[in-house]
Amino acid sequence: MTGSDPTLPPKPPARPDRVSLWRYVRLFKADILSAQPARLYRAWMAEFRTPFFRSFLMNQPDLVKTVLKERPDDFPKSDRIGEGLKPLLGQSVFLTNGAQWKRQRRIIDPAFEGGRLKDTFPAMWAAGEAALARLERQVARAEGRAIEVEEVTSHAAADVIFRTLFSIPIEHEVAAEVFSRFRAYQRAQPILNLAAFVPLPRWVPRFYPRGTRANARIIRDLIRRLTAERMTAIEAGTAPDDLATKIMTTRDPVTGEGFGTEEMVDQVAIFFLAGHETSASALAWTLYLMALYPEWQERLAEEAQAMVPEFSGMSRLRLSRDVFREALRLYPPVPMMVREAACPERFRDRSVPKGSQLVLSPWHLHRHERLWDNPDGFDPTRWQTENGKQCQREAYIPFSAGPRVCTGAGFAMVEGPLLLSMLLRRFRVERVAGREPVPVAHLTVRAKDGIWLKISRRD
Ligand code: HEM
Repeated sequence: MTGSDPTLPPKPPARPDRVSLWRYVRLFKADILSAQPARLYRAWMAEFRTPFFRSFLMNQPDLVKTVLKERPDDFPKSDRIGEGLKPLLGQSVFLTNGAQWKRQRRIIDPAFEGGRLKDTFPAMWAAGEAALARLERQVARAEGRAIEVEEVTSHAAADVIFRTLFSIPIEHEVAAEVFSRFRAYQRAQPILNLAAFVPLPRWVPRFYPRGTRANARIIRDLIRRLTAERMTAIEAGTAPDDLATKIMTTRDPVTGEGFGTEEMVDQVAIFFLAGHETSASALAWTLYLMALYPEWQERLAEEAQAMVPEFSGMSRLRLSRDVFREALRLYPPVPMMVREAACPERFRDRSVPKGSQLVLSPWHLHRHERLWDNPDGFDPTRWQTENGKQCQREAYIPFSAGPRVCTGAGFAMVEGPLLLSMLLRRFRVERVAGREPVPVAHLTVRAKDGIWLKISRRD
């Protein structure tokens, strides 16, 4: 927690500056955020040298720019990051590199372009309405007791994905099973785990927790059913005009080929995983911040009165957007990203050997004490200040940056403010004394024991 200042949003404790490697490994396994020393909030670059590997945390805007935007081909995604996810995600765009990755992006990106985004709006709105109805029942059942909101936002975000991708709600039999099996998988196999940072030689066999492979197979079988049914509908000319149809009918302008069934299954799996965990985490933290800063909550509730079920109405939710953006700064759902140096480099006059792990940390960059005014404070008005504008350009990467930027960034920036405004128009959220959430990084930045809030109807 943030020292003794109750007015600041919760921040995990830092570890002492010097600890033994084994202690570091233990801390890291528990939570990658509190495993780091406080100096990383001030450092431009830091090196972790262990007997087994070297990694560098890059915290300087121009170095981040070099790696992500200017020379991305020289800093591919480390294979390690996908270790735990391979059985589930196969050759998904999240894990691939080089020519294969470029081809996949050429097929996927058109589905997420601005114009198409507008087409997904009715499905997002319907998911918001469904979330309100569910919460209504939950609030009535709770009779004033606290409600865990990560569960609420997870359900809502999963519903958004199924409705926008396949035009089916989360209650659909296959969707519901995919959702519950994904949870079991994630609990056993976080996206960012120790393996991502510790290079294992290729000959070391990979052990997955019991049930991981079997669960991955079942999830893939379910997704395969959805894609096969969709292919039949596309061929029959009866397919709905949603993201799945768009992606499955797009041909790569360079090769003229589209995705085969297995490759499409890989992509659907990552859309579901990347698209629902992240949005759910961001929305849950935003709701907590609204409970912490009730004056902002009231402003958003008021702004939401003018909301209309049309895409064009999104431009009116300006405060909601600023608040959501600030929540993504303080609690970036993907706290760290790993890349690999494909050739030897020299950064800040230090030699970075070929094969080194480069860690880009939205978590630290977004709270960098030498870049941001009031780095740990919650201030949605910062985006209108000189410092805020400059930092947004140079030190704000919740969706990464450059050609490998999140495909769903525009989608998420509609979904987040929309659901936030819909929820706050109907409900009021309040903190529960003694249950302040502590951020920890599992798959995404989550609260150690959930985020508990008292929720009541506004009227
Ligand atoms: C608040 C919500 C979201 C956040 C903060 C977020 C963040 C990110 C980040 C940081 C990456 C880069 C990871 C890396 O390079 O290691 C990424 C990649 C990706 N995201 Fe998102 N994301 C969000 C929502 C979504 C949504 C809604 C979708 C799809 C519907 C999506 C699909 C993807 C995909 C496919 C990639 C892989 C892109 C590539 O490697 O080329 N994300 N996301």
